[in-house]
Amino acid sequence: MARKHILHMITPLKHMSPFDVNMALDAGFDAVVPYVGVGLDEVTGLVQDAIFSRPPDAGVDTGVFIAGKDVSLALDMFDAAKKAMVPPFQISVFADPAGSFTTAAAMVAKVEKALEKKFERGLKDTDIAIFGATGVVGFCTAVIAAKEGAKVTIVGHDGLERVGKVAAEMKSRFGVTVQPADGSTEAKKTALAEAAEVILTAAKAGVQVISKAQLAKAGKLLIAADVNAVPPAGVEGLGVHANGEPIDGGKALGIGPLAIGNVKYKVESGLFKKMIEAEKTVTFDFQDAFSLARELAK
Ligand SMILES: NC(=O)c1ccc[n+]([C@@H]2O[C@H](COP(=O)([O-])OP(=O)(O)OC[C@H]3O[C@@H](n4cnc5c(N)ncnc54)[C@H](OP(=O)(O)O)[C@@H]3O)[C@@H](O)[C@H]2O)c1
Repeated sequence: MARKHILHMITPLKHMSPFDVNMALDAGFDAVVPYVGVGLDEVTGLVQDAIFSRPPDAGVDTGVFIAGKDVSLALDMFDAAKKAMVPPFQISVFADPAGSFTTAAAMVAKVEKALEKKFERGLKDTDIAIFGATGVVGFCTAVIAAKEGAKVTIVGHDGLERVGKVAAEMKSRFGVTVQPADGSTEAKKTALAEAAEVILTAAKAGVQVISKAQLAKAGKLLIAADVNAVPPAGVEGLGVHANGEPIDGGKALGIGPLAIGNVKYKVESGLFKKMIEAEKTVTFDFQDAFSLARELAK
């Protein structure tokens, strides 16, 4: 009898995301088991409980998924899970807290593709303003873009203090330099839009961040991309299906949440399938998500 593919899904939150449960089962896992309210100090015990219950050659058919809503905590859990292995007893690990790794990967890959196709340039040295960067998706988007050499500004909606701490965390954890900026007033957001070649909005669902008036003043803007699918759009006038067309007849091109979501879906599903099909155990974080998103983005 073929061995079952089992996925242990752990989160520090009260609930495991139904989105991720559905994605894992649809990708082909036979059983997914949620563990909620998990502390970082409990990861080693859970992983070691899983690795010793099956013979070493079944490790490849067993996986751990790390969820939550905090990039640094998810990566700490990811590291703890990897360190908990006792070769040859080891299993696969995939982290994607609140879908942020796969969503950020999809957004940056779509923007990169559009820059290449429409403007014959890449992310390197491109001025990118990211709104909503204190959230998981914005945080991860900023790290991926900065690692690719973009000049990233992370914009807070309530002053400089929190976004300044986020920039410091990105520097210490990932070695990337990003500029924190205050976007708490319309005038400040207008000035940031004027300086940006790319605007990425990853704010809370249903929150408009950039208005048509601000877009009209964004003279250097090449591309605006938005991940919020709940009306109103994060960028006024940017359609949910936009896939590189000019926004409202203007010069800048738009990439909407469903165009990004289409790649995000394929990346998350694709990484689950790679876990299932792997012949040796695998570990996937946001860099693996970005590599796959680059292959998939059109
Ligand atoms: N298209 C896709 O495939 C896809 C997939 C996953 C998620 N999403 C979307 O991606 C977005 C970001 O997700 P997330 O999990 O990171 O969301 P989140 O935790 O709600 O945070 C988003 C960001 O929005 C900020 N924010 C809250 N209220 C705001 C306001 N009034 N004005 C401006 N900014 C505000 C938050 O700041 P605080 O730090 O103050 O809370 C945070 O920086 C959401 O819209 C979500 O629906 C899309």
